[in-house]
Amino acid sequence: DSLNEIKTDIITLTRFILTEQGRYATQATGDFTLLLNSLQFAFKFISHNIRRATLVNLIGLAGATNSTGDDQKKLDVIGDEIFINAMRASGKVKVLVSEEQEEIIVFEGDGKYCVVCDPIDGSSNLDAGVSVGTIFGVYKLQPGSTGGVSDVLRPGTEMIAAGYTMYGASANLVLTTGNGVNGFTLDTALGEFILTHPDMKIPKKRSIYSVNEGNTVYWDKPTQEYFHNLKYPSEGLKPYSSRYIGSMVADMHRTLLYGGIFAYPSDSKSKNGKLRLLYECFPMAFLVEQAGGLATTGTQRILDIVPKHIHDRSGIFLGSEKEVLKVIDMYQKYE
Ligand code: AHG
Ligand code: MN
Ligand code: MN
Ligand code: MN
Repeated sequence: DSLNEIKTDIITLTRFILTEQGRYATQATGDFTLLLNSLQFAFKFISHNIRRATLVNLIGLAGATNSTGDDQKKLDVIGDEIFINAMRASGKVKVLVSEEQEEIIVFEGDGKYCVVCDPIDGSSNLDAGVSVGTIFGVYKLQPGSTGGVSDVLRPGTEMIAAGYTMYGASANLVLTTGNGVNGFTLDTALGEFILTHPDMKIPKKRSIYSVNEGNTVYWDKPTQEYFHNLKYPSEGLKPYSSRYIGSMVADMHRTLLYGGIFAYPSDSKSKNGKLRLLYECFPMAFLVEQAGGLATTGTQRILDIVPKHIHDRSGIFLGSEKEVLKVIDMYQKYE
């Protein structure tokens, strides 16, 4: 690089939370910074194991199933253990919900945060080398609570932070603390997440739709008509492009950067959809709203839903405002 191309004032994630966001964000207290440091350690360690998976026989099934009925991959189990150990070691977490754990985990100590997580999202794609990720959300422990399920059976609107790390060509961490969305890329030489996508905003519209069309026969009428109209547009309009990776984190990351709509609608096969509310729908809905987009079930704002059980599922349509508004209009037409 010529001299003027070498950046000499890089913003690491730690500095970002302490300064750039610290000025406005209410929860950028020392505790939150320490929690974030433990989270980013977990992402670095998981990323390291994912990259070595094929080399050290870490791909393939673990031979067990989890409480949501998924076959657990070895990396699901390893990612879960890494995450649980990092949250325990932080000393800042009281309650932890994980896709791979049937019940909540309540840690010793006086942690003030509750974390919900999907340690490895898209794990069915792992052995094919497709991008997977870790998704997380953070609630403040309720005042006076000693840590219980009521601390996490709360609407997404009460989350104070959420994000994901996608383990793709590089490790990309996308985070919101309620003051917009920022993207960080892991510099493996420094071992630091560097701010590379400040103040991310989702394009207001984009002719891309992302859904598993193999479920078409199970969809309800509004969903069928909505996607039909994208594929067979009215006179003179071009059909949309279809992009579906099958890892929510990867489909979300593309949608955040390029725009368009991502959906996993509830249908006659999955009455409440497939994606889990606490650690998949809420974090992604929080991020997409903070980036200027929308997230709905078709009839209800995702973040307003109150989960009854920690592994509750929900149908979801998320993405560019204009695209999601068409879904909402379609459901109103059928009401
Ligand atoms: P997970 O790997 O954490 O169980 O999540 C898998 C989810 C999500 O990543 C993706 O959007 C969806 O499963 C894909 O489901 P289909 O294969 O049914 O399309
Ligand atoms: Mn799973
Ligand atoms: Mn998932
Ligand atoms: Mn998972």
